[in-house]
Order: sequence, then structure tokens, then C-alpha cells
Amino acid sequence: MCGIIGILGDHQAAPIMVDALKRLEYRGYDSAGIATVQDGTLDRRRAVGKLANLADLLVTDPLAGRAGIGHTRWATHGAPTVANAHPHRAGRVAVVHNGIIENFAALRRELSVGGDGDWESQTDTETIVRLCEHHLSQGKSPQDAAFATIDRLEGAYALCFLFDGEDDLLVCARAGSPLAIGHGEGEMFVGSDAIALGPLTDRMTYLEEGDRAVVTRAGARIWDGRGRQTSRDVQRIPLDSQRIEKGGHRHYMAKEIHEQPQTISDVLDAYLDGDRVAPPEAVDFAALSRLTIVACGTAHIAGTVAKYWFEQLARLPVECDIASEYRYRDPVIAADGAVMVVSQSGETADTLAAMRHATGKAARILSVVNVPTSSIARECDVAFPIHAGVEVGVASTKAFVNQLTVLLCLAVLAARQRGAIDAAREAEIVGDIRRLPGLVSQSLAVEEACADLSGWLAEASDILFLGRGAMYPLAQEGALKLKEISYIHAEAYASGELKHGPIALVDKTVPIVVLAPHDALFEKSISNMQEVMAREGQVLLVTDKSGAEAGGGGVRATLTMPACPPLLAPILYAVPAQLLAYHTAVHKGTDVDQPRNLAKSVTVE
Ligand code: F6R
Repeated sequence: MCGIIGILGDHQAAPIMVDALKRLEYRGYDSAGIATVQDGTLDRRRAVGKLANLADLLVTDPLAGRAGIGHTRWATHGAPTVANAHPHRAGRVAVVHNGIIENFAALRRELSVGGDGDWESQTDTETIVRLCEHHLSQGKSPQDAAFATIDRLEGAYALCFLFDGEDDLLVCARAGSPLAIGHGEGEMFVGSDAIALGPLTDRMTYLEEGDRAVVTRAGARIWDGRGRQTSRDVQRIPLDSQRIEKGGHRHYMAKEIHEQPQTISDVLDAYLDGDRVAPPEAVDFAALSRLTIVACGTAHIAGTVAKYWFEQLARLPVECDIASEYRYRDPVIAADGAVMVVSQSGETADTLAAMRHATGKAARILSVVNVPTSSIARECDVAFPIHAGVEVGVASTKAFVNQLTVLLCLAVLAARQRGAIDAAREAEIVGDIRRLPGLVSQSLAVEEACADLSGWLAEASDILFLGRGAMYPLAQEGALKLKEISYIHAEAYASGELKHGPIALVDKTVPIVVLAPHDALFEKSISNMQEVMAREGQVLLVTDKSGAEAGGGGVRATLTMPACPPLLAPILYAVPAQLLAYHTAVHKGTDVDQPRNLAKSVTVE
């Protein structure tokens, strides 16, 4: 979602800010802008669309100055237009803002002296600069005006203010959206994540919820949510972990798909010890009456797969809920149960809000996260890291398989703790899990076939994905990946559910992807596939060699996967789901890494 950069530097700020915004492109945006102070004068440039448009504008209409703020905007209030792009300005103050100001309508009414017509934009953010300018006009200092403004804001925000006449001052605040301060040599930086600040510094201070900071080249002074001046650690964030490169691949998504054998291997190093599961953090699943998994999108799908594992292996009842639904349906939260949130970014607003809703009600709040400094990781009782590294492609791939790998390990741990498996069975399962990097590597061999099939899939306007058991959520993942990056309508159904309605959609124009490893449910899946083929449905069967031999007659195409223990199949079958979507999108020529309308980290509800 939106990205923020702020600089009090030694060099011209504009090119450095454009570079920083480029590193934030992966978060998703539809307009961008920067403001600087030069010889005491505040000025700004903004452009709709890709950053190249802003860079072009800066060539024809440059912006000088060593102090500045910049922003990539993902539209919420108002369309992506220049007027709605950040930085917003009123008189002597400019601001960049991530998040949503929930009381903006009331503030707007209050500030609308001459009616509604004098507003420059449709955004909630403009109320912030108007309010701040109002306080400045009452004689307040820039810091006091910014703080008085922040006092009035309700909602979620990360903010950075820049003032006319002040080329050594940034005021920033964090409430619900992350913000980091970077420490340079006689320079200071502000960024919405470490990647923004990456090449500028490796010394960072993460603001805590409710913090405000006054930043000058001499350093940062920080106040906590209760207005007490406080100090926050300066952490060294290795520059390596902030570097984002395509590694010879055409897209980040391709690179991230191919990294999966390595990222799985990394996470197994952290979760396995010999022939036992030994996670980095302690948790007692034996003490729990039930587990509620809450997440959004692909992370929710990972949670749905985990339900199968926890129930089958550990006999622990699991419900898996969509975070935006969970929070508002007044759920029954068992005091002797745990709530586990799953989130790559650790900042997804709905997931964070759902977690906060359960805090203090459930016995334990667990999380499975990729970003260890994220709000979710910091606020839960126990955070299980997934060690996937930075994921840049908007469509989650390596984070999904690493979420699954961690969840499988935790399900095995739960099974041991609850006495559902003995040491010998645990050793057997762990032996299987250790095969994952190799098996996922072998699964990548379907890539060429996926590329060959992409022309057929790219022509379709609807595609169905079918699966049974834990392959049903994988069918959901295949459909989600395909629609988000290729813009082709795709739906997933539990194979057995098809004849209860969706089969009416089947005709020879609708490709049907059937995910069916040769397991205990295979015969059932094949019967459902036959029902589809009897209605001229064109089936792409994804199975293993014995599945292809046993049930592959009459299908349009087969992707042959390595044979694997049934518990591992959801992890392996993520690979063809990803590659089919990837190659179909490439064939269609869509923006694979930054698909339209989507953002990497969804920090608004
Ligand atoms: C889909 C995708 C999204 C995310 C969802 C949750 O490819 O990436 O559906 O899974 O927005 O995001 P996190 O995991 O950051 O909470």
C-alpha cells in the first residue's frame, strides 16, 4: 500500500526520494509525489501512474532542496488524480500519510469555513494539512501545530510533516501504520519500511504504536502515546536483508517461486532438530481446547490447509476465519483456546484488528509472520517466523509455502504434545518434511508445461479449479493467484460440491484445473472430473505419475508432479498453482509484480 520517505540530507533530496519510492513500488500505488524545502521555500511535484511519470516531471520541472518528503499513494478516498496525490499542502505545511483518518468528514465540516468548495482534493489527508495550517496561523510552532493536529486524528496513520521555512525539521507519527526513522552521518531519514531506507542507512528506530517524533539532522526526539518523552532502540538492519533484486529473473514473482526450495530449507533449519519438531518459540497445544486461525487472502488459505493438518494429526478442533469477518461477527472466543493469526507482512489491518479483538479473551495469541518487526509480531504472545525473506511480488508465493511449512511443523508438534502421535511416527513425518526442499525443486520441472498451457488459459474468460480435502484450499490458491495477476475470472470449488450448482457453468470454453494427487481421495476426485468431462469440460489434471496412469484418460492436458507423502502435497501443489498463474499473466502481458488495484501490504480495512 502507500509508501513514505522523508529526508534531511546532505545532498539533493529529489533523486534520492524517487529512488526510495522505486524501492517501495512493490507495495502497490497509483500516483506519487515529493515536496522539498529549498532556501526556506516549500514546493512539491506530483504525478499519476508509474513513478516514471514523476521522474519525467522532475526533469522538466526540477525540485531542489536537501530536505523533503515523498509518497506513493494507493487510492482510498478519491480517484488517483494529481489533486489527490500526496504530499498534500495547505499554506506552510505539507504532509504524506499512509492509512485512513476515520473522523475526516467531521474535521472537514469543522474546517469548511467557506462551504465545501474550497477543498483541493477528495482525500482524508487534506484535513490533516488544513488543521495543521490552522494551528500555525494561531501562532503555534511547527512542532506544536503538528502535535495539536495529531491529537485530533482518529484512525490509522503514519505521517510525516514538512514545513515552509524549516529545512532541518520533520515531524512524524505512527498509529496503526508502521514508520521507521533512519540514522545517517549528519543526515536523518524517515521511511514506511526498512526497504525504503535500505541503501541510505542500516541503523533504524522503529516507532511504537502512538509514538510521535521530531527529527532534525542532529537526531530524533520521540514521545510515546501518553505524551512522555521516551527513547527507542536503534537497531542494525543488515543491508542484505533490505536488498531487493530480481536475480536474473524477468519478474520478482518468478524469482520468488524459484527461491522456494531454499526458503523452505531455511525455515526447516529453524523448526526441526534431528527427528523432532523444535520450533524457535515454546507453545503448549495440549493445554488448548481449540485453535482459531484468522487471516486474509493467501494467508487465510494457508490457515485453511492447516485446519486439515491440525485436525488429522493432532485431533485439535480448528476453525479458520477471514479476519474482516471474524472481527465484526462477535465470535465466541474460548478462554482455553488460542487464536493464531497468519500474515506475511504482519501489518494487514483486518488481521491486526482481529488479533486485537481476541487479545485478553483467548488463552494465547499466536502469530505466523514473515516480518519480525511488524505490528502483529510485536503485539502477539508468541510469534513464529517463517523466514521467507523479503517478498516483493504482490502475489504471495514463497511466503505461502513457508507459512504452510511452519504450520505443518506446528501441527506435528501439537500432535506430539497431545499424545496423538508417538516418537516413531513423529520421526517418520519429520523425515518426510525434510524431503520438502528437494520435492519442491522437482515440482518446478512443470514450469515448461505451464508455459505451454498458458496460451490456452489466457484465452479463457472463466477458469474453474477443483480439489478435495487439503487440495480444496490449494484450488482456492490457484484461482486467487490466477485472477489477481492475469485478471481472468477464476473460482475454486470442493470437487464434490460441483454438482450442487457450479456444474451449470461447465462447457467446452471453460478450462477446469483439477488438483488430484494419487491419494486416498483420488478415485472420488476422478469421478467428479468425469462428470465435468461428460459435459465437454476441458480438464487440466495436476497429479503424479500413478495418478496420471490411473485416471488421466480423456483429459486435455496433464501436469505430472513428483509423488509425495499426502501430508506434503499441499506444499508441492502450490508450485503448479503459482506457475500456471504466472505464465498465463506473462502470456497476457499484465503487470505481474504490481497487478492493477492491488497492494502488497493492505493497511486499511
Ligand atoms: C495474494 C496475497 C494476499 C495476501 C493478503 C494478506 O497473493 O498476497 O491475498 O495474502 O493480503 O496479506 P498478509 O499475509 O500480509 O497479511
